[in-house]
Amino acid sequence: MTTELSPIDKAKYVAAKRAAGFVDKGMRVGLGTGSTAAWLVRCLGERVKDEGLRFRGVPTSTRTAELAKSVGIDVITLDEARWLDVTIDGADEFDGELNLIKGGGGALLQEKIVATASDQMIVIADAAKEVETLGAFPLPVEVIPFGWQTTQALIEEMLISMDVMGRNSALRMNGETPFITDEGNYILDLNLGRIGDARQMAMVLNQMPGVVENGIFVDICDTVIIGFSDGRVETRDINEGSVSEDRIDVEDGDNLFSDLGD
Ligand code: 5RP
Repeated sequence: MTTELSPIDKAKYVAAKRAAGFVDKGMRVGLGTGSTAAWLVRCLGERVKDEGLRFRGVPTSTRTAELAKSVGIDVITLDEARWLDVTIDGADEFDGELNLIKGGGGALLQEKIVATASDQMIVIADAAKEVETLGAFPLPVEVIPFGWQTTQALIEEMLISMDVMGRNSALRMNGETPFITDEGNYILDLNLGRIGDARQMAMVLNQMPGVVENGIFVDICDTVIIGFSDGRVETRDINEGSVSEDRIDVEDGDNLFSDLGD
């Protein structure tokens, strides 16, 4: 049985399907986390099944690892792969220079390690993720549980000297208890409104004791593939300075993933 995809899912799906075409036989591929990345993993699973495509995937979370294995992708660790041909992942925001905010799904640490160890990072997103200036989406910062409230206070104090609109932060929760990352850490979501200098913010945050990593990705993403609900797909490559557009027809039978979670 198939059900009609929502407009947002169509947009994510066409971006993911286009990105799946970047994977070739024998590649080592970083597999992102989140609802858009989950579409990618399913699209790659289809290529494994239909074309016999063989490649190795390095997942960026336990969720993605489980999904990738379930659709027949050969899963290896980053240390087994050492270096990746490409990483394909979603994002919470991207700007015109392809700086990103990531970590809405809480996997920013593994995502940044994996993307940085790749020849190319491709972000897949719907058009609503594009922003003029990063910061409307709360910036996720992974902190160690020890002394997290002290770390939070130090971060808020540091923000006084930064070009931001807001300085409040909140511990991410999972129901009644703190959300725990795959590495056993907490996430602080910083409500900054606007980040005037993303590069500086990323560097200053990472110098603070207690901070493990932050969700700003600068100079990591090479390509963004933007999906639209009418099937249009725009591909922007920051290195080549190129923009191209095409279309993917979404057939009813393409809704193979009605059981999909992120
Ligand atoms: C997970 C991430 C995701 O890529 C980001 O949150 C986007 O998720 P989605 O595709 O569900 O909107 O960074 O840590």
